[in-house]
Amino acid sequence: QKLQLNLEQIEKGGFDHFMLKEIYEQPLAIKDTYRGRLLVDDAIIKMVGVEDNMKRFLNADRIIIVACGTSWHAGLVAEYIFEDLARIPVEVEYASEFRYRNPVITEKDVVIAISQSGETADTLAAIKLAKSKGAFVFGVCNVVGSTIARETHAGAYTHAGPEIGVASTKAFTTQITILTLIALRLARANGTMSSSDYRRQLQELELIPEKVAEALKADKHIQAIAETYKDSRNMLYLGRGYNFPVALEGALKLKEISYIHAEGYPAAEMKHGPIALIDENMPVIVIATKKGHYEKVVSNIQEIKARKGKIIGIVTQGDVSVRELADHVIEVPETLENLSPLLTTIPLQLLSYHIAVLLGKNVDQPRNLAKSVTVE
Ligand code: AGP
Repeated sequence: QKLQLNLEQIEKGGFDHFMLKEIYEQPLAIKDTYRGRLLVDDAIIKMVGVEDNMKRFLNADRIIIVACGTSWHAGLVAEYIFEDLARIPVEVEYASEFRYRNPVITEKDVVIAISQSGETADTLAAIKLAKSKGAFVFGVCNVVGSTIARETHAGAYTHAGPEIGVASTKAFTTQITILTLIALRLARANGTMSSSDYRRQLQELELIPEKVAEALKADKHIQAIAETYKDSRNMLYLGRGYNFPVALEGALKLKEISYIHAEGYPAAEMKHGPIALIDENMPVIVIATKKGHYEKVVSNIQEIKARKGKIIGIVTQGDVSVRELADHVIEVPETLENLSPLLTTIPLQLLSYHIAVLLGKNVDQPRNLAKSVTVE
């Protein structure tokens, strides 16, 4: 047993938990995802699975993304990216709903299935259904040789390395990285992006790993914030645009490992219901980075403040407006709007991690959850 324990400690590489190790691995994991695919000097994105099937992608009436949980959140980010950059209509579906609702699928549809494990039963069933209707199915998986990787017509691995913690972290950011690469490649192929914008995107994407490393430096500060809010009964996560799915993901992370009830919402939806929840006992985490509806999010923050909610702002380095209103701010480096989820996710992962640790929860193996859900 002693040997077993030591082995596990070695595997954790000096970190207390696999989840923390995997959070810290993200700069490298993202680099591994784009290695050999993102060729900035040549202004090229090279992905065999996409190149070989370019016609299917470019002739697609729409892209349907199917996934579950965190992978579904990555799909939501991808919806914004594909529509914004490549101008291809996208629908994002929970695999569990898609498989049972007799969806309209044609041979002109491209389905992208996203799954870290490549073994999720609902996602697999959605793939089989789409294939039976003649759609082209592309897989985004992390586990090499997994069932979903084998069942799809083509695909791209995220190459994030093994993810042991039940709460998904590096899988999410590497999925977004891959989906960004695909969207950029398609944007270039169908002429929806100028070559200068395209180059800029490539350059910025290459810088993301060091910016993630920079965002990780807020760890101690985030730990102190976690200490302040660890006994909260509820938390609200708000974001807009590209950062709306990040709010959902932040709330899921907190629920999963700390068992605190949390909701993610598009910030503007607050006034359609959740605002009723806000009082001095409600911490609200607001993603308010510079690009992307900044002024509007600031006015949402004012609404929260007027109701005495506690505000934790995720802001761009050097921000002043939110700092004046919020109880706490956590800074992330500046980047292009469509790449910002890769940075804003980091403090949310750390916040849920520290809260769970402070509450003495089993961070790597939360109750009732399995790493891959291979049953319905
Ligand atoms: C995320 O933290 C989860 N534990 C869970 O939602 C997970 O993302 C979901 O079960 C999908 O798994 P997959 O990516 O392996 O298909």
